[in-house]
Amino acid sequence: MRILIIGQGYVGTTMGVVLARAGHEVTGLDIDPKKIDSLKKGNLYFYEPGLEEMLREQVKAKKLQFTTEARQAIVNNDILFITVGTPSLENGNADLTYIKNAAQMIGRFKNNEKIIVVKSTVPVGTTENVEQWVMEASKDASPVKVVMNPEFLREGSALQDALYPDRIVIGSHIGDALETVTRIYKNWTCPLLQTTPRAAEMIKYASNAFLATKISFINEIAKLCDKLGINVRDISKGIGLDKRIGPSFLDAGLGYGGSCFPKDVKELLWTANDKQAPLHILREVEQVNQQQPTYLLTKTRQHLKSFKGKKIAVLGLAFKPYTDDTRESVSMPVIHHLLEEQASVVVHDPIVALSEEWRNRGVHQSDDLYEVVKDSDAIIICTNWPQYEELDWAKIRNLVRHPAIFDGRNMLKPEKLNEWEFHYEGIGYP
Ligand code: UDX
Repeated sequence: MRILIIGQGYVGTTMGVVLARAGHEVTGLDIDPKKIDSLKKGNLYFYEPGLEEMLREQVKAKKLQFTTEARQAIVNNDILFITVGTPSLENGNADLTYIKNAAQMIGRFKNNEKIIVVKSTVPVGTTENVEQWVMEASKDASPVKVVMNPEFLREGSALQDALYPDRIVIGSHIGDALETVTRIYKNWTCPLLQTTPRAAEMIKYASNAFLATKISFINEIAKLCDKLGINVRDISKGIGLDKRIGPSFLDAGLGYGGSCFPKDVKELLWTANDKQAPLHILREVEQVNQQQPTYLLTKTRQHLKSFKGKKIAVLGLAFKPYTDDTRESVSMPVIHHLLEEQASVVVHDPIVALSEEWRNRGVHQSDDLYEVVKDSDAIIICTNWPQYEELDWAKIRNLVRHPAIFDGRNMLKPEKLNEWEFHYEGIGYP
């Protein structure tokens, strides 16, 4: 099938590659010529393990092409995926500007019946609006059939998640559109759920909200474990073995960040308030998450007495490992607070370069981990990059001014560190 993918972000690019690999003829469209130039050459403009190799294969095989020419792309394709971003507005509401722009662009250029597949995370009711926005912008009276098909891939494992998802959700009232989109995924073996568009939209928000809830739940239990002298990792394991609970998303730490959970939780809370059906649990989930950096910094401050004049080594800038994305990364509030309290901050991340804004605020970065921790009064781990597990702690012990580690991801083995007389604290690790 011929498919156009509008918006070449993480989701759009990954889906293009995966759909091309499944045998479809895919075109990726974006308004940013730099992104398109890079993708045409088979180069990813962001970091995502394994994706670039497969992108190159598909570009070489001519199953995947890229363009900025919207008119031609829309005329040439009858199945149009929308994968543009839906960031948060100041009030927490999702900003639908890019979705609306994409819909109006389809409307302006469409010449016949189109199936539009909305993959972006959009508030309940948006799929209906997309149809309206297209038709208002169109001189062509042939119908558009809009289908909601939320995407659940994670950054850092986007390719695996898109190739082997737990489920595919397709929401539409229109039988033949539902069938066509179902056929697109005929090579996938996971359960496929057909719903209404509104249910499909809600499934995406409820999934992310539930996972965020698991994280904030275990983070609260972790803080109680700190008081009771219990290792929260044992609790995560012990409760996770219950099939009704499941083991994933029970890692306590500095909390969730990224481009999805924070914004989707906000949007769902906004919708719930708007409809006067407040989501009390989710409100607390957000609150707990926002407090996590403060919780770890309080522990660090208590240990050091004060941050003033201290050198703090911050390990990890990305919101999670295997990505170069720092959106809503917990490392940012951590660094901000440290600077506010007059600490000097040196950071390390294996792939993220510190922005100019932070450099202007006096934060230093080095690729050499041992350089970063040299003369430090405390090491704070913000991202669980696996390489931090393999450090030479004997060497670090000799480099630091004061041997203290505050593990915001509960990733190190404290027994190993005790050998070198480090003061070690995690979150939920007494
Ligand atoms: C998420 C959803 O998982 C995905 O289905 C959706 O399509 C997009 O949003 P992503 O934001 O890429 O994916 O990352 P994810 O792996 O879900 O992690 C989100 C955040 O939660 C990260 O900051 C991570 O460090 C944190 N996290 C995750 C925890 O703090 N504890 C955990 O147990 C799991």
